[in-house]
Amino acid sequence: MSSNFKAVVINNQNEKFSREIKEIDASHLKDGNVLVKIDYSSLNYKDALILRDGGKIVRKFPFVPGIDFSGKVIESDDSKFKKDDNVILTGFRVGEAYFGGFAQYAKVDSNFLIKTPKELDNKKVMMLGTAGFTALLCAFAVKAREELLLGEKVKEVLVTGATGGVGSIAVMILSKMGYNVHAVTGKKDKNDYLKNLGAKNILDRKEFEGESKLLEKGIWDGVVDTVGGPALTKIFAQTKPTGIVAACGNAGGIKINTTVMPFIIRGVKLWGIDSSAAPITRREFVWNEASKLIDFEKLKSFTNELSFNELLETYPKLLKGEYFGRAIVNPNK
Ligand SMILES: NC(=O)c1ccc[n+]([C@@H]2O[C@H](COP(=O)([O-])OP(=O)(O)OC[C@H]3O[C@@H](n4cnc5c(N)ncnc54)[C@H](OP(=O)(O)O)[C@@H]3O)[C@@H](O)[C@H]2O)c1
Repeated sequence: MSSNFKAVVINNQNEKFSREIKEIDASHLKDGNVLVKIDYSSLNYKDALILRDGGKIVRKFPFVPGIDFSGKVIESDDSKFKKDDNVILTGFRVGEAYFGGFAQYAKVDSNFLIKTPKELDNKKVMMLGTAGFTALLCAFAVKAREELLLGEKVKEVLVTGATGGVGSIAVMILSKMGYNVHAVTGKKDKNDYLKNLGAKNILDRKEFEGESKLLEKGIWDGVVDTVGGPALTKIFAQTKPTGIVAACGNAGGIKINTTVMPFIIRGVKLWGIDSSAAPITRREFVWNEASKLIDFEKLKSFTNELSFNELLETYPKLLKGEYFGRAIVNPNK
Protein backbone atom coordinates (compact mmCIF):
# COMPACT_ATOMS: atom_id res chain seq x y z
CA MET A 1 0.00 0.00 0.00
CA SER A 2 1.09 3.58 -0.42
CA SER A 3 1.95 5.11 2.95
CA ASN A 4 -0.89 7.66 2.78
CA PHE A 5 -4.57 6.93 2.30
CA LYS A 6 -7.89 8.73 2.36
CA ALA A 7 -10.21 8.51 5.39
CA VAL A 8 -13.04 10.33 7.11
CA VAL A 9 -11.57 11.69 10.33
CA ILE A 10 -13.68 12.99 13.21
CA ASN A 11 -12.16 15.10 15.93
CA ASN A 12 -13.28 16.73 19.17
CA GLN A 13 -10.90 19.41 20.38
CA ASN A 14 -11.81 22.02 22.96
CA GLU A 15 -15.45 20.86 22.66
CA LYS A 16 -15.42 21.68 18.96
CA PHE A 17 -16.50 18.67 16.91
CA SER A 18 -15.22 18.33 13.34
CA ARG A 19 -15.39 15.85 10.48
CA GLU A 20 -13.01 15.98 7.52
CA ILE A 21 -11.84 13.89 4.60
CA LYS A 22 -8.09 13.61 5.09
CA GLU A 23 -4.98 11.85 3.86
CA ILE A 24 -3.62 9.91 6.81
CA ASP A 25 -0.45 7.93 7.27
CA ALA A 26 -0.42 4.11 7.48
CA SER A 27 1.31 4.39 10.86
CA HIS A 28 -2.09 5.43 12.27
CA LEU A 29 -3.32 1.85 11.81
CA LYS A 30 -2.09 0.44 15.09
CA ASP A 31 -4.64 -2.21 16.09
CA GLY A 32 -5.07 -5.67 14.62
CA ASN A 33 -3.07 -8.16 12.58
CA VAL A 34 -4.84 -8.10 9.17
CA LEU A 35 -4.50 -5.15 6.80
CA VAL A 36 -7.49 -4.80 4.46
CA LYS A 37 -7.93 -2.61 1.37
CA ILE A 38 -11.54 -1.52 1.71
CA ASP A 39 -13.90 -1.86 -1.25
CA TYR A 40 -17.11 -0.74 0.47
CA SER A 41 -18.52 0.33 3.79
CA SER A 42 -22.15 1.17 4.61
CA LEU A 43 -23.99 3.96 6.40
CA ASN A 44 -25.88 2.80 9.50
CA TYR A 45 -27.84 4.76 12.11
CA LYS A 46 -25.00 4.29 14.60
CA ASP A 47 -22.51 5.70 12.05
CA ALA A 48 -24.73 8.76 11.65
CA LEU A 49 -24.77 9.33 15.44
CA ILE A 50 -20.98 9.01 15.52
CA LEU A 51 -20.51 11.36 12.55
CA ARG A 52 -22.76 13.93 14.23
CA ASP A 53 -20.89 14.25 17.53
CA GLY A 54 -19.27 10.92 18.45
CA GLY A 55 -22.67 9.71 19.70
CA LYS A 56 -21.23 9.21 23.24
CA ILE A 57 -19.82 6.04 21.65
CA VAL A 58 -16.40 7.23 20.42
CA ARG A 59 -14.19 8.33 23.29
CA LYS A 60 -10.78 8.78 21.63
CA PHE A 61 -10.10 11.46 19.01
CA PRO A 62 -9.04 11.92 16.24
CA PHE A 63 -10.88 8.85 15.01
CA VAL A 64 -11.90 7.05 11.79
CA PRO A 65 -15.57 5.87 12.03
CA GLY A 66 -17.44 3.23 9.99
CA ILE A 67 -18.90 0.15 11.76
CA ASP A 68 -18.71 -2.23 8.81
CA PHE A 69 -16.70 -2.85 5.65
CA SER A 70 -15.74 -5.39 3.01
CA GLY A 71 -12.43 -5.58 1.20
CA LYS A 72 -9.35 -7.53 0.17
CA VAL A 73 -6.62 -8.74 2.49
CA ILE A 74 -3.27 -7.03 1.81
CA GLU A 75 -1.22 -8.50 4.68
CA SER A 76 -2.08 -11.00 7.40
CA ASP A 77 -0.26 -12.39 10.43
CA ASP A 78 -2.90 -15.10 10.78
CA SER A 79 -2.74 -18.15 8.51
CA LYS A 80 -6.59 -18.20 8.34
CA PHE A 81 -6.39 -15.22 5.96
CA LYS A 82 -4.05 -14.78 3.00
CA LYS A 83 -3.38 -11.98 0.54
CA ASP A 84 -6.33 -11.23 -1.80
CA ASP A 85 -8.93 -13.02 0.34
CA ASN A 86 -12.21 -11.11 0.28
CA VAL A 87 -13.40 -10.41 3.82
CA ILE A 88 -16.35 -8.95 5.75
CA LEU A 89 -16.25 -7.00 8.99
CA THR A 90 -19.30 -5.94 10.98
CA GLY A 91 -19.34 -4.81 14.60
CA PHE A 92 -16.84 -5.93 17.27
CA ARG A 93 -16.58 -2.20 18.18
CA VAL A 94 -14.74 -1.40 14.96
CA GLY A 95 -15.70 2.17 14.04
CA GLU A 96 -16.41 2.77 17.75
CA ALA A 97 -13.20 1.87 19.64
CA TYR A 98 -10.98 0.80 16.72
CA PHE A 99 -10.49 2.72 13.47
CA GLY A 100 -13.28 1.74 11.08
CA GLY A 101 -14.50 1.43 7.54
CA PHE A 102 -14.76 5.03 6.28
CA ALA A 103 -11.22 4.78 4.91
CA GLN A 104 -9.33 3.20 2.03
CA TYR A 105 -7.53 0.84 4.44
CA ALA A 106 -8.23 -0.70 7.83
CA LYS A 107 -6.27 -2.99 10.14
CA VAL A 108 -8.29 -5.31 12.38
CA ASP A 109 -8.04 -8.39 14.55
CA SER A 110 -8.31 -11.57 12.43
CA ASN A 111 -10.89 -12.89 14.95
CA PHE A 112 -13.30 -10.17 13.76
CA LEU A 113 -13.25 -11.20 10.09
CA ILE A 114 -15.02 -13.76 7.99
CA LYS A 115 -14.42 -14.57 4.33
CA THR A 116 -16.91 -13.22 1.79
CA PRO A 117 -18.96 -16.25 0.61
CA LYS A 118 -18.07 -17.18 -2.96
CA GLU A 119 -21.71 -16.70 -4.08
CA LEU A 120 -21.48 -13.02 -3.04
CA ASP A 121 -19.02 -10.18 -3.69
CA ASN A 122 -17.75 -7.25 -1.64
CA LYS A 123 -20.35 -4.85 -3.05
CA LYS A 124 -23.29 -7.17 -2.39
CA VAL A 125 -22.23 -7.82 1.20
CA MET A 126 -22.17 -4.10 1.99
CA MET A 127 -25.51 -3.58 0.24
CA LEU A 128 -26.63 -5.77 3.14
CA GLY A 129 -24.11 -4.42 5.68
CA THR A 130 -24.84 -4.43 9.40
CA ALA A 131 -28.56 -3.86 8.68
CA GLY A 132 -28.81 -6.92 6.43
CA PHE A 133 -26.71 -9.06 8.75
CA THR A 134 -29.00 -8.08 11.65
CA ALA A 135 -32.09 -8.86 9.56
CA LEU A 136 -30.65 -12.30 8.78
CA LEU A 137 -29.95 -12.97 12.48
CA CYS A 138 -33.53 -11.91 13.35
CA ALA A 139 -35.09 -14.02 10.60
CA PHE A 140 -33.19 -17.13 11.70
CA ALA A 141 -34.23 -16.45 15.33
CA VAL A 142 -37.90 -16.51 14.18
CA LYS A 143 -37.31 -19.62 12.06
CA ALA A 144 -35.76 -21.37 15.08
CA ARG A 145 -39.31 -21.84 16.42
CA GLU A 146 -39.71 -24.62 13.84
CA GLU A 147 -36.62 -26.44 15.09
CA LEU A 148 -37.28 -25.80 18.81
CA LEU A 149 -40.83 -27.09 18.48
CA LEU A 150 -39.87 -30.00 16.23
CA GLY A 151 -41.71 -29.08 13.08
CA GLU A 152 -44.34 -26.55 14.22
CA LYS A 153 -44.71 -24.18 11.26
CA VAL A 154 -44.19 -20.45 11.42
CA LYS A 155 -46.91 -18.76 9.40
CA GLU A 156 -47.71 -15.18 10.41
CA VAL A 157 -44.71 -12.91 11.01
CA LEU A 158 -44.71 -9.23 11.97
CA VAL A 159 -41.90 -6.79 11.05
CA THR A 160 -41.82 -3.31 12.64
CA GLY A 161 -39.96 -0.30 11.23
CA ALA A 162 -40.50 -2.10 7.95
CA THR A 163 -39.21 0.60 5.58
CA GLY A 164 -35.93 0.95 7.54
CA GLY A 165 -32.69 -0.82 6.65
CA VAL A 166 -33.16 -3.80 8.96
CA GLY A 167 -36.94 -3.90 8.46
CA SER A 168 -36.89 -3.85 4.64
CA ILE A 169 -34.34 -6.64 4.38
CA ALA A 170 -36.18 -8.66 7.06
CA VAL A 171 -39.41 -8.37 5.02
CA MET A 172 -37.55 -9.69 1.97
CA ILE A 173 -35.91 -12.60 3.82
CA LEU A 174 -38.99 -13.73 5.75
CA SER A 175 -41.21 -13.73 2.67
CA LYS A 176 -38.53 -15.74 0.83
CA MET A 177 -38.61 -18.20 3.78
CA GLY A 178 -42.27 -18.69 2.90
CA TYR A 179 -43.93 -16.78 5.75
CA ASN A 180 -46.86 -14.35 5.57
CA VAL A 181 -45.15 -11.07 6.36
CA HIS A 182 -47.13 -8.26 8.00
CA ALA A 183 -45.16 -5.02 7.68
CA VAL A 184 -45.66 -2.18 10.16
CA THR A 185 -44.81 1.28 8.87
CA GLY A 186 -45.47 4.93 9.63
CA LYS A 187 -45.00 5.82 5.93
CA LYS A 188 -48.29 5.77 4.05
CA ASP A 189 -46.61 6.19 0.64
CA LYS A 190 -44.47 3.04 0.95
CA ASN A 191 -47.13 0.34 0.58
CA ASP A 192 -46.07 -0.58 -2.97
CA TYR A 193 -42.43 -0.70 -1.93
CA LEU A 194 -43.21 -3.11 0.94
CA LYS A 195 -45.49 -5.27 -1.23
CA ASN A 196 -42.71 -5.47 -3.83
CA LEU A 197 -40.36 -6.75 -1.10
CA GLY A 198 -42.85 -9.51 -0.36
CA ALA A 199 -45.09 -8.11 2.41
CA LYS A 200 -48.54 -9.70 2.34
CA ASN A 201 -50.16 -7.08 4.51
CA ILE A 202 -49.30 -3.52 5.61
CA LEU A 203 -50.21 -2.21 9.07
CA ASP A 204 -50.17 1.38 10.26
CA ARG A 205 -47.67 2.12 13.03
CA LYS A 206 -50.52 3.87 14.92
CA GLU A 207 -52.15 0.46 15.56
CA PHE A 208 -49.24 -0.34 17.89
CA GLU A 209 -49.49 2.83 19.94
CA GLY A 210 -51.27 3.23 23.27
CA GLU A 211 -51.97 0.91 26.19
CA SER A 212 -52.23 -2.82 25.58
CA LYS A 213 -54.14 -5.47 27.54
CA LEU A 214 -52.23 -8.13 29.52
CA LEU A 215 -52.98 -10.54 26.70
CA GLU A 216 -54.64 -9.74 23.40
CA LYS A 217 -55.67 -12.07 20.59
CA GLY A 218 -52.57 -14.11 19.66
CA ILE A 219 -51.73 -13.35 16.02
CA TRP A 220 -47.96 -13.63 15.46
CA ASP A 221 -45.87 -16.80 15.27
CA GLY A 222 -42.80 -14.63 14.97
CA VAL A 223 -41.83 -10.97 15.17
CA VAL A 224 -38.83 -8.95 14.04
CA ASP A 225 -38.96 -5.79 16.10
CA THR A 226 -36.70 -2.86 15.24
CA VAL A 227 -38.58 -0.18 17.18
CA GLY A 228 -38.90 -1.30 20.85
CA GLY A 229 -40.87 0.95 23.23
CA PRO A 230 -44.68 0.80 23.60
CA ALA A 231 -45.07 -1.09 20.30
CA LEU A 232 -43.03 -3.98 21.70
CA THR A 233 -45.26 -4.13 24.79
CA LYS A 234 -48.30 -4.59 22.55
CA ILE A 235 -46.47 -7.10 20.38
CA PHE A 236 -45.79 -9.40 23.37
CA ALA A 237 -49.52 -9.37 24.17
CA GLN A 238 -50.38 -10.28 20.54
CA THR A 239 -47.84 -13.10 20.10
CA LYS A 240 -49.21 -16.64 19.77
CA PRO A 241 -48.27 -19.40 22.22
CA THR A 242 -44.55 -20.30 21.85
CA GLY A 243 -44.02 -17.47 19.35
CA ILE A 244 -40.57 -15.88 19.10
CA VAL A 245 -40.00 -12.12 19.22
CA ALA A 246 -36.57 -11.15 17.85
CA ALA A 247 -35.89 -7.68 19.29
CA CYS A 248 -33.01 -5.76 17.77
CA GLY A 249 -33.78 -2.05 17.81
CA ASN A 250 -35.02 1.02 19.63
CA ALA A 251 -36.12 3.37 16.84
CA GLY A 252 -39.34 4.01 18.82
CA GLY A 253 -37.93 4.02 22.37
CA ILE A 254 -35.99 1.99 24.90
CA LYS A 255 -38.61 1.42 27.61
CA ILE A 256 -40.94 -1.57 27.62
CA ASN A 257 -43.73 -1.84 30.15
CA THR A 258 -44.81 -5.45 29.93
CA THR A 259 -46.00 -8.16 32.36
CA VAL A 260 -44.92 -11.77 32.78
CA MET A 261 -48.24 -12.98 31.31
CA PRO A 262 -47.19 -13.46 27.65
CA PHE A 263 -44.14 -15.39 28.87
CA ILE A 264 -45.76 -17.66 31.49
CA ILE A 265 -49.22 -18.13 29.96
CA ARG A 266 -48.18 -18.43 26.32
CA GLY A 267 -44.49 -19.34 26.53
CA VAL A 268 -43.62 -16.37 24.32
CA LYS A 269 -39.88 -16.14 23.77
CA LEU A 270 -37.95 -12.87 23.66
CA TRP A 271 -34.80 -13.32 21.60
CA GLY A 272 -32.46 -10.32 21.88
CA ILE A 273 -30.23 -9.70 18.90
CA ASP A 274 -26.76 -8.17 19.21
CA SER A 275 -25.19 -8.30 15.77
CA SER A 276 -22.01 -6.58 16.96
CA ALA A 277 -20.88 -9.45 19.17
CA ALA A 278 -22.37 -12.36 17.18
CA PRO A 279 -19.98 -15.35 17.26
CA ILE A 280 -17.96 -16.14 14.14
CA THR A 281 -19.71 -19.48 13.51
CA ARG A 282 -23.11 -17.72 13.50
CA ARG A 283 -21.72 -15.04 11.15
CA GLU A 284 -20.41 -17.64 8.72
CA PHE A 285 -23.72 -19.48 8.78
CA VAL A 286 -26.00 -16.51 8.08
CA TRP A 287 -23.71 -14.84 5.50
CA ASN A 288 -23.57 -18.16 3.66
CA GLU A 289 -27.39 -18.29 3.60
CA ALA A 290 -27.70 -14.73 2.23
CA SER A 291 -27.40 -15.60 -1.45
CA LYS A 292 -30.43 -17.93 -1.16
CA LEU A 293 -32.61 -15.39 0.64
CA ILE A 294 -31.79 -12.00 -0.88
CA ASP A 295 -32.96 -10.65 -4.22
CA PHE A 296 -29.93 -8.47 -4.99
CA GLU A 297 -31.58 -6.81 -8.00
CA LYS A 298 -34.32 -5.52 -5.69
CA LEU A 299 -31.81 -4.54 -3.03
CA LYS A 300 -29.79 -2.65 -5.65
CA SER A 301 -32.89 -0.69 -6.69
CA PHE A 302 -32.98 1.02 -3.26
CA THR A 303 -29.22 1.25 -2.62
CA ASN A 304 -27.19 4.40 -3.32
CA GLU A 305 -23.41 4.42 -3.69
CA LEU A 306 -21.82 7.38 -1.89
CA SER A 307 -18.39 9.03 -1.99
CA PHE A 308 -16.95 10.32 1.30
CA ASN A 309 -18.22 13.81 0.40
CA GLU A 310 -21.70 12.43 -0.27
CA LEU A 311 -21.54 10.46 3.00
CA LEU A 312 -20.98 13.71 4.93
CA GLU A 313 -23.94 15.30 3.12
CA THR A 314 -26.18 12.28 3.71
CA TYR A 315 -25.77 11.26 7.35
CA PRO A 316 -27.82 14.24 8.76
CA LYS A 317 -30.77 13.18 6.57
CA LEU A 318 -30.62 9.69 8.09
CA LEU A 319 -30.80 11.18 11.59
CA LYS A 320 -33.83 13.30 10.63
CA GLY A 321 -35.61 10.27 9.12
CA GLU A 322 -35.39 11.94 5.69
CA TYR A 323 -33.20 9.29 4.05
CA PHE A 324 -34.80 6.29 2.44
CA GLY A 325 -32.99 3.12 1.29
CA ARG A 326 -29.56 1.63 1.83
CA ALA A 327 -26.36 3.66 1.44
CA ILE A 328 -23.03 2.03 0.63
CA VAL A 329 -19.81 4.02 0.81
CA ASN A 330 -17.12 3.63 -1.85
CA PRO A 331 -13.80 5.05 -0.56
CA ASN A 332 -12.45 5.18 -4.11
CA LYS A 333 -15.38 7.11 -5.64
N1 LIG B 1 -29.15 -5.06 17.71
C1 LIG B 1 -28.36 -4.90 16.67
O1 LIG B 1 -27.39 -5.61 16.49
C2 LIG B 1 -28.70 -3.84 15.68
C3 LIG B 1 -28.08 -3.79 14.43
C4 LIG B 1 -28.51 -2.83 13.50
C5 LIG B 1 -29.49 -1.90 13.86
N2 LIG B 1 -30.00 -1.96 15.12
C6 LIG B 1 -31.07 -1.04 15.53
O2 LIG B 1 -32.25 -1.41 14.83
C7 LIG B 1 -33.05 -0.26 14.59
C8 LIG B 1 -33.33 -0.15 13.11
O3 LIG B 1 -32.10 0.08 12.42
P1 LIG B 1 -32.14 0.54 10.89
O4 LIG B 1 -30.73 0.56 10.43
O5 LIG B 1 -33.15 -0.29 10.16
O6 LIG B 1 -32.68 2.03 11.08
P2 LIG B 1 -33.50 2.91 10.04
O7 LIG B 1 -33.13 2.57 8.65
O8 LIG B 1 -33.36 4.31 10.54
O9 LIG B 1 -35.02 2.40 10.23
C9 LIG B 1 -35.77 2.56 11.41
C10 LIG B 1 -37.24 2.52 11.03
O10 LIG B 1 -38.01 2.54 12.23
C11 LIG B 1 -39.23 3.23 12.02
N3 LIG B 1 -39.31 4.31 13.01
C12 LIG B 1 -38.58 5.45 13.05
N4 LIG B 1 -38.93 6.21 14.11
C13 LIG B 1 -39.91 5.53 14.75
C14 LIG B 1 -40.70 5.80 15.90
N5 LIG B 1 -40.56 6.91 16.61
N6 LIG B 1 -41.61 4.87 16.27
C15 LIG B 1 -41.77 3.73 15.57
N7 LIG B 1 -41.06 3.45 14.44
C16 LIG B 1 -40.15 4.33 14.05
C17 LIG B 1 -39.18 3.77 10.60
O11 LIG B 1 -39.84 2.81 9.77
P3 LIG B 1 -41.37 2.99 9.29
O12 LIG B 1 -41.50 4.43 8.85
O13 LIG B 1 -41.50 2.01 8.18
O14 LIG B 1 -42.24 2.70 10.46
C18 LIG B 1 -37.71 3.74 10.24
O15 LIG B 1 -37.50 3.58 8.87
C19 LIG B 1 -32.27 0.94 15.17
O16 LIG B 1 -32.75 1.17 16.49
C20 LIG B 1 -30.83 0.41 15.23
O17 LIG B 1 -30.09 1.05 16.23
C21 LIG B 1 -29.64 -2.90 16.01
